[in-house]
Amino acid sequence: MPKPIHDAAVREAPAHDAPGHAAPPALEITDLWAGYGEQDVLRGIDLKLAPRSIVALIGANGAGKSTLLRTISGLIRPRRGAVRLYGEDVAGLPPHRIVARGFVQSPEGKQLFLDMSIRENLLVGAQNRRARERREETLDEVFDLFPILRERQALNACTLSGGQQQMVAVGRALMALPRVLALDEPSLGLAPIMVDRLFESIARIRERDLTILIIEQNVFQVLEMADHGYVLENGVVTLSGTGQELLADDHLRASYLGL
Ligand SMILES: Nc1ncnc2c1ncn2[C@@H]1O[C@H](COP(=O)(O)OP(=O)(O)OP(=O)(O)O)[C@@H](O)[C@H]1O
Ligand SMILES: [Mg+2]
Repeated sequence: MPKPIHDAAVREAPAHDAPGHAAPPALEITDLWAGYGEQDVLRGIDLKLAPRSIVALIGANGAGKSTLLRTISGLIRPRRGAVRLYGEDVAGLPPHRIVARGFVQSPEGKQLFLDMSIRENLLVGAQNRRARERREETLDEVFDLFPILRERQALNACTLSGGQQQMVAVGRALMALPRVLALDEPSLGLAPIMVDRLFESIARIRERDLTILIIEQNVFQVLEMADHGYVLENGVVTLSGTGQELLADDHLRASYLGL
């Protein structure tokens, strides 16, 4: 087992593991509504992630997947509903406080600083006080996960391939010491061999006591790996189940796998 990427004992969030009480979900979303201007995009989302699970979020273009991550992150203010991280409602908190409480996303399109070094890009993730104090240690762990980044750390991010840039984006999110890591289409634009490698890395990240919420267009591959999946259509969850249950579902197979 690799060592955990963070030390649970230094968490800021309250402990909920008193004897006799079931541990709360890592992330629990209840009746979440949000949108842009007057337009509602999310229309009553319910979602639950068990600690240390990998959960896939599937949906067509425009379904509201990225909007959901932005809302959980505090970048969009929810109109209604609760977002609980390990039992603590974080809805309406500013983004930096939500990161400090452990929800960190690697956003759609990577959003790297291409004219800064790989190392500098990774350090951008370690803004909160706890992450800053441990940043050299975490950096070492990220380099263990993605050795090519250790080799090239002094080079500008623009010198990397798309797949390597995605490693930087995931590594930067890990630098913030997430408890729940959200990945928004990490495999977008990657060659199939790089997608396989990325999925192997994600499976390895799971061994580090993290909960992962992953948005993916590689529906078959992600559901093979995921413990649980949700299908989002027009801002509503229309289907959920274990990865295997979803892969056996006729609607999912017809709509997302073309079978
Ligand atoms: N900044 C914005 N301002 C206004 N409308 C937006 C904005 N961003 C997204 N939308 C709209 O919200 C809806 C959901 O978009 P969102 O990006 O969440 O979808 P998505 O499921 O992530 O899609 P994709 O698979 O293409 O990434 C779409 O109708 C989109 O046009
Ligand atoms: Mg999106």
